[in-house]
Amino acid sequence: MACSTQSDALVFFVNGRKNQQLFSLTAAFAVRLSGTKYGCGIGGCGACTVMISTYEPTSKKIMHYPANSCLLPICSLHSSAVTTVEGVGSTKTRVHPIQERLAKCHGSQCGFCTPGMVMSMYALLRNHPEPSMEQITAALDGNLCRCTGYRPIIDTYKSFTGETACCQLRGTGQCCLDKEDVCSSSDKGNQMHSGLCNPEEFQPVDPTQEFIFPPELMRMAQEQQKRTLVFRGERTTWISPTNLRELLELKAMYPKAPLIVGNTSVGLEMKRDGVHHPVFIHPTRIPDLHVVSNTNNGLVIGAACSLAQLRDILMKVVPELPEEKTKIFRALLQQLKTLAGEQIRSLASLGGHIVSRGSTWDLNPVLAVGNSVLSLASKDGTRQIPLNDQFLAGYENADLKPKEIIVSVFIPYSKKDDFVSAFRQAERRRNAVSVVNSGMRVLFKPNTDIIMDMNILYGGTGPITVSARKSCQRLIGRQWNEQMLDEACKLVLGEISLSPSAPGGKVEYRRTLLVSFLFKFYLEVLYGLNKMYPAKFPDLSKKNLSALGAFHSEVPQGMQTYQDVDPVQPPQDPVGRPIMHQSGVKHATGEAVYCNDIRAVDEELFLAVVTSSRAHAKIVTIDVSEALKVPGVVDVVTAEDVPGKNGTDDEQAYAKDEVICVGQIVCAVVAESAVQAKQGVEKVKIEYEDLEPILTIEDAIKHNSYFGKEKKIEQGNIEEGFKSADEIIEGEIHIGGQEHFYLETNSVLVVPRGEDNEMDVHVSTQDAARVQEFVALALDVQSSKIMCHTKRVGGAFGGKITKPAIFAVVAAVAIPNLRIRGPFRGFVATQTGLPQEKIREINMYKEVNLTPFKEELDATNLVKCWKECMEKSEYYSRKTAVEEFNKQNYWKKKGIAIIPMKFSVGFNATQYHQAAALVHIYTDGSVLVTHGGIELGQGIHTKMLQIASRELKVPLSYVHFCETSTITVPNAIVTAGSIGSDVNGKAVQNACQILRKRLEPIINKNPEGKWEDWITEAYDQSVSLSATGYFRGYMVNMNWDTGEGQAFPYFVFGAACSEVEIDCLTGDHKNIRTDIVMDACFSINPAVDIGQIEGAFVQGVGLYTMEEIKFSPEGEQYTLGPDTYKIPAVCDIPEQFRVYLLPNSRNPIAIYSAKGIGEAGLFLGCSVFFAIWDAVAAVRKERGLTGTFTLNSPLTIERIRMACADNFTEMVMVF
Ligand SMILES: Cc1cc2nc3c(=O)[nH]c(=O)nc-3n(C[C@H](O)[C@H](O)[C@H](O)COP(=O)(O)OP(=O)(O)OC[C@H]3O[C@@H](n4cnc5c(N)ncnc54)[C@H](O)[C@@H]3O)c2cc1C
Ligand code: FES
Ligand code: FES
Repeated sequence: MACSTQSDALVFFVNGRKNQQLFSLTAAFAVRLSGTKYGCGIGGCGACTVMISTYEPTSKKIMHYPANSCLLPICSLHSSAVTTVEGVGSTKTRVHPIQERLAKCHGSQCGFCTPGMVMSMYALLRNHPEPSMEQITAALDGNLCRCTGYRPIIDTYKSFTGETACCQLRGTGQCCLDKEDVCSSSDKGNQMHSGLCNPEEFQPVDPTQEFIFPPELMRMAQEQQKRTLVFRGERTTWISPTNLRELLELKAMYPKAPLIVGNTSVGLEMKRDGVHHPVFIHPTRIPDLHVVSNTNNGLVIGAACSLAQLRDILMKVVPELPEEKTKIFRALLQQLKTLAGEQIRSLASLGGHIVSRGSTWDLNPVLAVGNSVLSLASKDGTRQIPLNDQFLAGYENADLKPKEIIVSVFIPYSKKDDFVSAFRQAERRRNAVSVVNSGMRVLFKPNTDIIMDMNILYGGTGPITVSARKSCQRLIGRQWNEQMLDEACKLVLGEISLSPSAPGGKVEYRRTLLVSFLFKFYLEVLYGLNKMYPAKFPDLSKKNLSALGAFHSEVPQGMQTYQDVDPVQPPQDPVGRPIMHQSGVKHATGEAVYCNDIRAVDEELFLAVVTSSRAHAKIVTIDVSEALKVPGVVDVVTAEDVPGKNGTDDEQAYAKDEVICVGQIVCAVVAESAVQAKQGVEKVKIEYEDLEPILTIEDAIKHNSYFGKEKKIEQGNIEEGFKSADEIIEGEIHIGGQEHFYLETNSVLVVPRGEDNEMDVHVSTQDAARVQEFVALALDVQSSKIMCHTKRVGGAFGGKITKPAIFAVVAAVAIPNLRIRGPFRGFVATQTGLPQEKIREINMYKEVNLTPFKEELDATNLVKCWKECMEKSEYYSRKTAVEEFNKQNYWKKKGIAIIPMKFSVGFNATQYHQAAALVHIYTDGSVLVTHGGIELGQGIHTKMLQIASRELKVPLSYVHFCETSTITVPNAIVTAGSIGSDVNGKAVQNACQILRKRLEPIINKNPEGKWEDWITEAYDQSVSLSATGYFRGYMVNMNWDTGEGQAFPYFVFGAACSEVEIDCLTGDHKNIRTDIVMDACFSINPAVDIGQIEGAFVQGVGLYTMEEIKFSPEGEQYTLGPDTYKIPAVCDIPEQFRVYLLPNSRNPIAIYSAKGIGEAGLFLGCSVFFAIWDAVAAVRKERGLTGTFTLNSPLTIERIRMACADNFTEMVMVF
């Protein structure tokens, strides 16, 4: 078949508007509207979600599905309609109910994940106008949020279900929306209030307002049905045939060309490994590849059907067929429900899944044990091959030939005496590839438990999916009993090899999973035999029943309780009320501008950095000659080009002479496009001479290599204390670090102003003053010439305090006379016999006390939080219930823990608490507030506007915040330490009070006048309508030498009780319930504060249970993105998540008696750690393991499983 040498026009619609142009196939981001965010670039975070709509001319159906635009090849969009968040709704047209409700329910904080969250929900609603909660949580599987803790997002979306929007607090019979029921008076104060938004304010959903599918695309789809389409780019050709014959001809012509369907496998290879394909064949228009047919023996599914379609087909078919026929289908469904996120499931095809055959792909082991058959076709004819272990191993005689394609997959019905099960265990229950997965099948001689056939495949044990073929053969003819199981385990451990140094590590755990899955299968089969032949086979013992089933995430339910404002507070005074985030609606509509969204101008250049591949080495040479030859590359910048100071003594901007870690910036390539800059980076050659690295804490101790001077605090006579102690318990515990995992990558935009060395630096940072200082020093100009601007930051969590200054120096030095933009990514049993809560209670601060550094502290509120948490969580009755559960369940155990918390707010230096604000009143009465704090998602600007509104006594709508800038507020402190709103609030208050005082004589003269009248009058009287406000900061005076003084201005207290359930065989756990009581004192904005507590808590759950940073022996970090580093997702939040703000509490030193609570909730995440510890302790006690044991943090699936020692963990050690 001869392809046209011309390129067809690529036509697709975006938000109802036609795009018709020839795109470069290398354009990675198909739809570059800035509402669509770029987080990870590899399909793992969902920030880039868009909705694709297509028209199928044969069935005349329109399909809508969510997709990760970072993996979407632009040519795949031909004749599709793309909807981005801007197309869903905007403040200029109509804010869509999804957007409006998300904002009103406080579902956004930094807002960077929010457009993706909107799009996932929007795509679901377009297909299911009244979705179930199960569908909603599944739709959010592929969307990560680091800020909110997901609870408000789930609550928002509940309002779209056909189900009731009531919180249905299980067990209580109460509804949080029924305010009359839940509002109760606190002991001595205002009413307690539940819920943070009012569903009565929601706009109804009106489907008639949605975009209709463009009729032009329908016509096009019909007309072009018969024509092959060719899109030619600079380096790549994309061919989309219309029938099987053409496809096979093309495959014969280009045997190496991938058949691109979802691009979720090929796309990753291209992005990660730089693989280039000159030709792509896009087979999705060929009906044969979409066939779905029900035959006498099974289902035939077209290879181009997506995994989401496969799931929907199976869900439809399973209830229609006799149960015995659907065992393979149900096993597949089980895997499909947790495989990837909905976006990937909608893109990825069955054929692509089978052919790319990643070792951890979940469907292949099940399809293989189910004896599925692949229908292949090539120009030379058709044939069928089994999808078995040999195919999955890629054996030549069992594989596709280069010119062959899979047309369809036959999945047989199961037989009556068949038993089929699927297993997978991943580091996170959803949207994470398996650590190990398996498909298992046994066929018995009818009416017996004699094995006639058996097949077990495992994924995740090596580079390919493997079969325990020999073991299974040895077991044929055996009875299904414990002796068989014992032998089967030994055989499998002998056959499936995993060397101690296998890539991915976790070797003992993975081997334990092999036999733990096998044990589960054994029990599932016994259970099934009993159900089929109750007279012949006994029921499972109670002990073993508890091994069955994997955890499913229930729909999370939340409750938020806080004290209402004083009933006499004027309604227009917003302080103390749950006001929506100042940017909430803009987050949801995608209009909120982040650094990378600032519109490009002429001559803008892009920068990409070359980083060290060595942990410690001398830089011998840097050869940039080849990089400079890359078209579009303008310059390569090194340390030599820095005119002034190259970073700090601790951290250089550009490495000079020596590198001290993998990933350190060595030089930067400046080019006309981001792609060219990256191409340039590939061409830079650096020669190193390796030096000995220090990679671990143990290494550092050995080498006496410490950061700074040792600080220590001792209280009492330590030696004497130990001597007189009844018992000394010694041990070691390790806690891992945590990635900040902000969704917005580091971004800097540097714009020279063209005169006096002035430069604007737009930067995503927590510390604009530091950026200003570093850039000025590096360029050797005065700070007054460098203007830093930060509108908002897409998540930071401490990760954007120091690094952005380095990135800004890199960019500013690179090109002082041009505008430049650069994205970067950076990724922390007792033997007393007493119950744990008693020990904590005994050790807890009480009343007025001294901290170890001898700072006085009044712990009354800590004790109150503890008691209230005990009460609200019904700790003791639930503890008894947990113990009862544990008696009944051998293989699943529950644990419960209650943890008190004292968190020090702020810094131990007075100058780090100073803050300034600038408030202007314009002659129309509008107010512009600016201050030194930076919006990181913590709602600081919202609180500042509330403060200004109260102090000036004007409605909130009069007050505006524009940006944080070194022009308006100089020398601002870093926004960190939970103190930002606190100290900047005082500065804003001060400025507003100054202004109000100036206005007082005018107001007194005309008390009935309006604000606008007073302002006009003030102007006429030449009264200044602008004021700076200042707060000197809290006095702290810690002396580390004597170990005395006041280290922190004040403390936040809290307590959390968490309950978990663990699966002793897999190490999986689920968070059942968490109750948090936090002493936020008077909350300026309960919605913001509760959001901070929930978000920080969930981040803490990640820190203590999931997030594991791993390095190679050479010091290279393995865990750099969502594929290798798992932060909590929707499935990880407690099924019941209740937050109470302690009533009637005051913090006299802070503004309005509030407290800064941004970070404190994180530490309460350890209540989940200790609840798991409690469950593991119960397991070990039952197994007779009475000694003490150590559990390190994070308490991952691997650590939980291995601590639940049993026959299987022992077997793994022996075999
Ligand atoms: C973020 C992310 C998360 C994931 N999570 C999971 C998970 O939890 N569990 C899991 O099992 N998998 C997971 N995957 C992998 C996913 O299942 C596969 O990438 C996907 O199924 C591949 O399908 P595709 O259509 O995108 O293939 P493509 O990338 O389009 O193609 C892959 C290969 O298949 C070939 N091919 C495609 N169709 C045919 C055909 N009909 N005939 C012959 N060759 C063909 C192509 O030539 C190419 O070589 C994940 C992937 C991503 C990106
Ligand atoms: S940016 Fe596309 S999924 Fe993360
Ligand atoms: S609001 Fe979700 S990542 Fe910040």
